[in-house]
Amino acid sequence: MPKHIIRLILLIVAVLAVAAIAAPLLTVDSFYRYGHYRANSVPEIAAQEPVYQTPRYCYGCHTERRAQWSASSHKSVICEVCHGAAQGHPQSGKLFIPTDTVRLCTQCHEAMPGRPVTQPQIEVAAHSGGQQCAVCHNPHSPKISTAAAKVSGDAALGKQSADACASCHGDDGNSPNDTWPNLTGQNAAYLARILAAYQSGDQSDPVMTPLASGLSSADIQNFAAYYAGLSCKAPAGGKPVGDVTAGESLAANCVACHGQAGRGANPAWPKLAAQKPGYLVNVLKAFKAGLRKDPMMAGVAKNLSDTDIANLAAYYAAQSCQSTQ
Ligand code: HEC
Ligand code: HEC
Ligand code: HEC
Ligand code: HEC
Ligand code: HEC
Ligand code: HEC
Repeated sequence: MPKHIIRLILLIVAVLAVAAIAAPLLTVDSFYRYGHYRANSVPEIAAQEPVYQTPRYCYGCHTERRAQWSASSHKSVICEVCHGAAQGHPQSGKLFIPTDTVRLCTQCHEAMPGRPVTQPQIEVAAHSGGQQCAVCHNPHSPKISTAAAKVSGDAALGKQSADACASCHGDDGNSPNDTWPNLTGQNAAYLARILAAYQSGDQSDPVMTPLASGLSSADIQNFAAYYAGLSCKAPAGGKPVGDVTAGESLAANCVACHGQAGRGANPAWPKLAAQKPGYLVNVLKAFKAGLRKDPMMAGVAKNLSDTDIANLAAYYAAQSCQSTQ
């Protein structure tokens, strides 16, 4: 027989041998028990642990995340879309925590023709300035409410009661002390909200909590109207502790929510311009340490170093609060 025919036969034999060895290895065991008609194996398959466990599975152990998630519009995005299949978790390991949220979130939110309009879309570059989405959005509760409650207080009544506040916040809302906040020219809706927060316990401070507990909701409205209506003074000047220029570049990350130069973008959120630098430092550190709670500021502050905080405080303290409108 010619040599090449022998080689061909040997090759065919080798392939058949490999196939004969591989077939049982590649076939599920139950095939040999149940054959082609596999209805009998259904209970066995049903007894397997599901790869995707659904959010209900997470409820018992991750109560806080689950509460945030189920209260928000993201509840159509189940946990395992972002965290991966939970099979075997927590016994056999932790789940993946997405760190590159730009990549994760833009999969569904980057503006694209043909994407359903019911799914909110953004122009990524203009919207986030290259930052991670989780800096501003809590992935479990991403909605950022820009709605501000209307403040209908009477500024004249607020002025009458403001003596009680003058020792710390100044006669005209300009605090005499580096670590106590100015109130003048602050957004009324923010003032009302934060005073109510001291009252409800959402916000706490050894000084303000007892003071606020005695206020009625009408008092709060009146104070908010009064202080918001005062025109603020020029920044104090003097040599700041931080570096204003370094603070300015960091502040690019704050513009979306606190406005240009901290002069306010949203009436529900605080202005920062001309605020006391010592107060700004304390507050930013409190957000970072989780002592003052706000889901957005928690994300922002956790990435700031002490130097960043000093620089930001120096920058905002030096800005004129006079609106350019
Ligand atoms: C039986 C309780 C239990 C259930 C159910 C459970 N987890 Fe966990 N999970 C844990 C524990 C315990 C850890 C580890 C915490 C640690 O070591 O810091 C953890 C860690 C995680 C982490 C990583 C946290 C980190 O700090 O590394 C993620 C993400 C997570 N779980 C998501 C989920 C999701 C999503 C589900 C539902 C599909 C789920 N878990 C169901 C108990 C549970
Ligand atoms: C849209 C994507 C998304 C969905 C949906 C989602 N997560 Fe997360 N989750 C994240 C991201 C991003 C982080 C990390 C950032 C953070 O901590 O806020 C995270 C962090 C976590 C952590 C770890 C926190 C830590 O830092 O130790 C747990 C636990 C967790 N998620 C549980 C859940 C559970 C339970 C659900 C469902 C009820 C869920 N997640 C749904 C994106 C998501
Ligand atoms: C699998 C797709 C998907 C992913 C991934 C996803 N989202 Fe969403 N997101 C949605 C859908 C769908 C809605 C609209 C839900 C609704 O309105 O019922 C939504 C809503 C939102 C909203 C608007 C909330 C509101 O009520 O106006 C924001 C903000 C948001 N997502 C931010 C994020 C961020 C930040 C991430 C990344 C951590 C992310 N999303 C990841 C699908 C996704
Ligand atoms: C600097 C803070 C900031 C960052 C970073 C940021 N967002 Fe937002 N985002 C906002 C604010 C503030 C709003 C609400 C006001 C508005 O509608 O513009 C918002 C609104 C949204 C909405 C809802 C839009 C709508 O029409 O209802 C989506 C979706 C969204 N963001 C997705 C993202 C994604 C995805 C990323 C990451 C690529 C991201 N955001 C990064 C501040 C931010
Ligand atoms: C004994 C000093 C003191 C008195 C009196 C006082 N405050 Fe305060 N106030 C503070 C301090 C300190 C803070 C900063 C608390 C913090 O860091 O949470 C503050 C914070 C505030 C804030 C929050 C400011 C912001 O930018 O978040 C408001 C609003 C406020 N006070 C209103 C009032 C009103 C109205 C009165 C009078 C009824 C009053 N305060 C009386 C010391 C005082
Ligand atoms: C996604 C929106 C958002 C971004 C981005 C953001 N903030 Fe805030 N900031 C808030 C909200 C909302 C509050 C009010 C929190 C509260 O009620 O406790 C706040 C409060 C503050 C306060 C407390 C003001 C006072 O009068 O008590 C300071 C200081 C502050 N932010 C600084 C910063 C700095 C610095 C940056 C940028 C590095 C920044 N924020 C970025 C939303 C944001």
